Formats: sequence, C-alpha cells, structure tokens
Amino acid sequence: MNGFIPITEDIFYVGVNDRETHLFENMWPLPKGVTYNSYVIKDSKNVLVDTVKVSKMALFLQKLRGLLNGEKLDYLVINHMEPDHSGAIQEVIQNYPDIKIVGNSKTFEFLKGFYGIEENLYEVTDGDSIDLGRHKLTFYLTPMVHWPETMMTYDEPDKILFAGDAFGGFGSLDGGVFDDEVNIDYYENEIRRYYSNIVGKFGPMVQKALKKLEGLDIGGVASTHGPVWRSNPQRIIKSYDRWSRYEADPGVVLVYGSMYGNTEKMADYVARKLAEYGVKDIRVMNSSTTHDSYIINEIWKYKGVIFGSCTYNVGLFPPMESLIKNLSHKGVKNRVFGVFGTYGWSGGGVKTILEYVEKNKWPLVGDSVEVKLTPSQEHYQLLDQLAKRMAEEIVK
Ligand code: FEO
Repeated sequence: MNGFIPITEDIFYVGVNDRETHLFENMWPLPKGVTYNSYVIKDSKNVLVDTVKVSKMALFLQKLRGLLNGEKLDYLVINHMEPDHSGAIQEVIQNYPDIKIVGNSKTFEFLKGFYGIEENLYEVTDGDSIDLGRHKLTFYLTPMVHWPETMMTYDEPDKILFAGDAFGGFGSLDGGVFDDEVNIDYYENEIRRYYSNIVGKFGPMVQKALKKLEGLDIGGVASTHGPVWRSNPQRIIKSYDRWSRYEADPGVVLVYGSMYGNTEKMADYVARKLAEYGVKDIRVMNSSTTHDSYIINEIWKYKGVIFGSCTYNVGLFPPMESLIKNLSHKGVKNRVFGVFGTYGWSGGGVKTILEYVEKNKWPLVGDSVEVKLTPSQEHYQLLDQLAKRMAEEIVK
C-alpha cells in the first residue's frame, strides 16, 4: 500500500505499515507487524486525523502530499497522543504551518510535554463539533481508553467513527485494508491481544465510552491500528463490549512452568481429565516459551484458568511469576482459578501463586495440589478432583 486509499467519496486512508519494530511499546511482540493508521477528510476544510510513528514519517508525508496535491491542511485532529500516532506531528506542522491542532485540554498537556507545541491550538470538549462544508466532525471524550486524553471523532454524513486505539490491533495490512477484504478472524484475535494487554485494565472506562457512543449511527470504524471496519462495524463494537464486561467462553487456559517435565506431566494429565469431563476448549501454554501477551489474550477469552508451576529458589518459577504479576496488573474479572505445582526440597511455588490468588480475590476452584519432585498415584487422584471441579464450573 504505497498510496492513499479511499474509504468514502472524500475520506482517505493514509496509514502506514511497520514490519520493522519487533516489540510494540517495547514490550508486546509484533510477529506480523503493526499499522499506524491516519486519515484525511477532503472538504471545504481539509482535515488530517492522527499521524504516525516518527520512524514512518517519510512514507506518511509522501502519501499525504500525493493526496493533497498542493492543497493545504486546515485541521489536525488528535484522538490520541501516544507517540506511535503523534510522532509525526512536528513534521506535519513544518509542512503545513497554518494547520490548527484540534484536541482537548489533556491532549495539549501531552503536546506541550512531548513536543513543546503550544500554538495554533483549537480546544474542544465533549460533544463539540466543527463544520467542514459537507462534513461535520463531533468529538467525544473517552478518557482512559487507554490514556487520559483519548477521544473519538464522529463524521457526518459518512457515519465514520475515528476511534483512536479503540477497536484496533496488531498485524500489518498486507493488501487488504477493510474488514471485508481480509481474514477478519486473524485480525480479531490480534485485536483481543491488543485489547487485553494494553486497554484491558480500563474495562470500566471502555464501558463508559461505549455508553457515550450508543446513540450514534456508526457506519464504519476507523481505528489507529488494523483494518477499517466498513462492512460490519458492529462485530468489533460487540466484541469490545464483551471484553470490557469480562465475559468469557466456556474453556480453560492451563499455564505451566516446568524445568524438567514433572509439572508439565501434571499439566498434561489435568488437561486430559478436563477433556474427559467435557471441556472442549483447553489451551495448554508453556510460560517459558510463550510471551505473556498471548497467554493473557487466551485468558481474556476463557472462563477457567489453571496455574501449574515448579518452585525456583524457594519461590515461584520466574516465567510464571512474570505472567501472574502481569495478569494481576490487568485486573481481569469473572474467571475461576485452579492451582497445582511441584517443589524439590522446600515449597514456594504453589504458596506464592496462592498469595497472588488471595491478593486479587480470584475465586479458587477445588484444592490446590502440591507435589514433592514427581507425582504419585495419590497426587493424580487429587489432580483428577481439581480437573473435575474446574470442569463443573465451565460446563454448566
Ligand atoms: Fe496506538 Fe496508545 O497507541
């Protein structure tokens, strides 16, 4: 996608792919890249909605100049100030010095703090509008989805919602730009990985934002990442609603940490028993080889979570501790938890998991099972009971 792509008669996609960055926010793996989406509305007044990461500025400006063909930009609407979208603002201002920057009071704090920009500001608050000629933009403040300044911009008459990070996810756009042009199941999975790891902590604020948007006739969703939803925007809006209400499918994520295979053996046994007791969706995940973000994504999907861990230096196996700490930080709710583990000469793994469970008020299912070195027949019976209790919670 080297050029600009029409979304409607006079709204254009001018976003860019990034297949070079390995870690989003220097934390989250990008095996298939990411996009920084930006949009132009051409009217009596021309508007740019959000920009791109600074590393992609050259290609972005090339597209912008190609589309505008000498015309000026009147407004830059900033829905979100995180630098993956605000990185090219200074360059845009240098190229279009008369541009007015549209944002809310919090936007302008970031704008001054990051880039020292304090001039040509056009402050809006909730429900304010700007007439462009044929188009009218209305602004909805949606704080903490997922930063304090985040807002969304609704376009009339084309009914496009420019949503900032909301409804967006990982993955470059490899030819297809619209939801009806791509394998949308792949992107929706990556949108949930983005949501659960980056936005998920702010579920109640997402709910507030969705309530605010309820009355709008949304014909398309244009996020700052991932595909543009033009054929079925309600699909991603409904998914966002479910995820932010912590709704879950009937399934179990079994995450384990194992150095020499004893804990893994128990994990496989519990998984088999879960299947025998009727659980169809079981995800067994190795915390040593799977990035937390993929495990958290699955936990955001399924109702049951079982942690199985060995002990390391009288404490919890570090990859498991990283995962559980990370999950605690996300504030996931409406899940049920099971625990098992092993130790060599003194306990510590199971004890530490149970401390996290108690601290987070996560509902525990069945009795935790702790094994010295390797499980005996008696331990397998206890693991069977744990799987049975978990399955009863899932297959209701
Ligand atoms: Fe896509 Fe919150 O930055």
